[in-house]
Amino acid sequence: DPSFSATLQNKRIALVFFENSTRTRFSFDIAARHLGGSTLSFSASGSSVSKGESLGDTIRNLEAMQVDAFVLRHASSGAADFIAGITAKTIINAGDGSHEHPTQALLDTFTIFEELGAGQVDGMTVTMLGDLKYGRTVHSLARLLTLFNVRLNYVSPDILPMPEDVIAEVQASGTPQASFTSLEEVLPESDVVYVTRVQKERFADEKEYEKVRGSYVISPETLKIAKEDMIVMHPLPRVNEIHASVDDDPRAAYFRQMANGMYIRMALLA
Ligand code: NCD
Repeated sequence: DPSFSATLQNKRIALVFFENSTRTRFSFDIAARHLGGSTLSFSASGSSVSKGESLGDTIRNLEAMQVDAFVLRHASSGAADFIAGITAKTIINAGDGSHEHPTQALLDTFTIFEELGAGQVDGMTVTMLGDLKYGRTVHSLARLLTLFNVRLNYVSPDILPMPEDVIAEVQASGTPQASFTSLEEVLPESDVVYVTRVQKERFADEKEYEKVRGSYVISPETLKIAKEDMIVMHPLPRVNEIHASVDDDPRAAYFRQMANGMYIRMALLA
């Protein structure tokens, strides 16, 4: 719709990425441009951060260049909250360490809404699988889904459980939740299986990562006991958690999920 194309006219969005990103960064960039805004891209390598400049100084400098909003990704939990104390500009958290990834949760919830149940999220059983400890997307998604009538299952290796603070918040909302170590137990009842990558970069000890990296792998064989009308989601990047041969299954929703990201980010920026 051409009437949207001037929504962000004369607005400058700084994409400040201290951690790697493909989808999140590009989708914010394209979203801003579709709405007529301009973007400044910043990555930690090739900036003064490699000379030791602090996050606060980096933000102050960008602010001096008349930036209207910051989209920040950073390895420290709480980074977006921290810069909210430094600048009065709009800040969008595009991932802070192993803490949160709220815009991903919005596009994930939108995907469930679009793909299942004729436009509703209520009534779904959502099973989150993999690295629930360090995976920030599942923390934000579990919190967001408490606004609906859903049932949450957590399937993870023993050493990578859903954090206590998320469990407590979900509990307080009255949303039913339960933890498992085997996917087979809950797969037949799941409307959504949300697969995550083991977050290698957050492990202090590489040996610990090696122990759990192949814990859960979805193959066409795995899905034989799943519902006909369920979906498999993944925030991407995928490493080895889902066989490429699953991609042709109509239940594989992860590429459609990814495409939803740009629209959600356009809506947020607008
Ligand atoms: C996720 C992230 O950065 O947390 N990626 C993304 O934004 N789609 C998931 C991941 O890195 O595993």
